[in-house]
Amino acid sequence: MYEVKIIGTGSYAPSNVVTNDDIAQFVDTSDKWISDRTGIKERRISKDEDTSVLSTKAAKLALENANVNPKDIDLIILATATPDYFIPSTACIIQEELGAVNATCFDISAACTGFIYGVNIATQFIKTGQSKTALVIGAEVLSKIVDWDDRNTCILFGDGAGAAILQRSDEKGIISVYTGSDGSGGEHLECPAVPLNNKFSGEEKSNDNIVSMNGREIFKFATKIMPKCIDEVLKNTEYNLEDIKYIVPHQANTRIIEYVAKKLNIDLNKFYMNLDRYGNTSGGSIPIALDEMVQKGLLNKGDKIILVGFGGGLTFGAELIEWRI
Ligand code: COA
Repeated sequence: MYEVKIIGTGSYAPSNVVTNDDIAQFVDTSDKWISDRTGIKERRISKDEDTSVLSTKAAKLALENANVNPKDIDLIILATATPDYFIPSTACIIQEELGAVNATCFDISAACTGFIYGVNIATQFIKTGQSKTALVIGAEVLSKIVDWDDRNTCILFGDGAGAAILQRSDEKGIISVYTGSDGSGGEHLECPAVPLNNKFSGEEKSNDNIVSMNGREIFKFATKIMPKCIDEVLKNTEYNLEDIKYIVPHQANTRIIEYVAKKLNIDLNKFYMNLDRYGNTSGGSIPIALDEMVQKGLLNKGDKIILVGFGGGLTFGAELIEWRI
């Protein structure tokens, strides 16, 4: 088995900034309510760039930072709940845009845990020798599927993309992975796909591709599962929480992260947060945060970090990583 490390990251978000006050223009809410309950101040909302465009821009930066030629990428995994099309996969569109002609490409669906799942899949491909250099992207244009009249959800989400290049290595970069799913909670965060309408199916069903959410149930789930994921990913390793420099959580809600910090008795400063500026970008959230940390020079060779996420599905997971750049 080969070892796997991250050799570069990149991110991109649309330039259009939408503040809480902007949202309060069309739904009954306020900057104070949103800030107090979520920590979110503003988010980026795409006007004309779909998921493949955001992804390609993030991927180009990751390739540049990793000093990798697109032709050397042999695997592209895009984690998204908001693809451009059902067919082709958005990963194939990104491949074409990048000129990554030697890659096998596919999208995965794990909502906000998508990047964690994607890094896990790429790690398995590389460990077994199937792949040598993989591009993993988490990207969303959630604004396409948000109900802009629903104040329970439209305040939370934003658009953006983050990418990482993973490569075969002699050094252990991905130290351990923990993932899981709980389909029994799927109804708490939903966006229907195309309904079953055909010549044989009887009465026509309406086509409502918008997000609905039971916020309280998701909140309860998140505060229970995040500490578990962090515990599990450290289990059977030589590391404990004191060895971890940063935890990069899914950027959903400051109160969730504060709760997790308290429950695990971790200094809140160990959790990197940028959700005040991006909101919840689902699959994009963790890789955007990670890339921002790299750009700020927060990560040094040898640092141990944990990526941890949860989301619709329900899905959850964490990765313990030694930074090798
Ligand atoms: N502005 C003003 N009031 C709002 C509002 C808004 N944007 N959204 C909801 N409210 C109201 C509700 O209607 C409710 O009013 P009522 O008491 O008169 O019925 C009140 O605020 C409290 O609603 P509640 O849902 O209990 O609020 P909350 O404290 O649970 O916060 C969330 C709501 C959505 C912020 C919170 O539940 C949450 O963050 N959940 C997790 C969501 C998440 O992370 N989803 C993504 C998962 S990947």
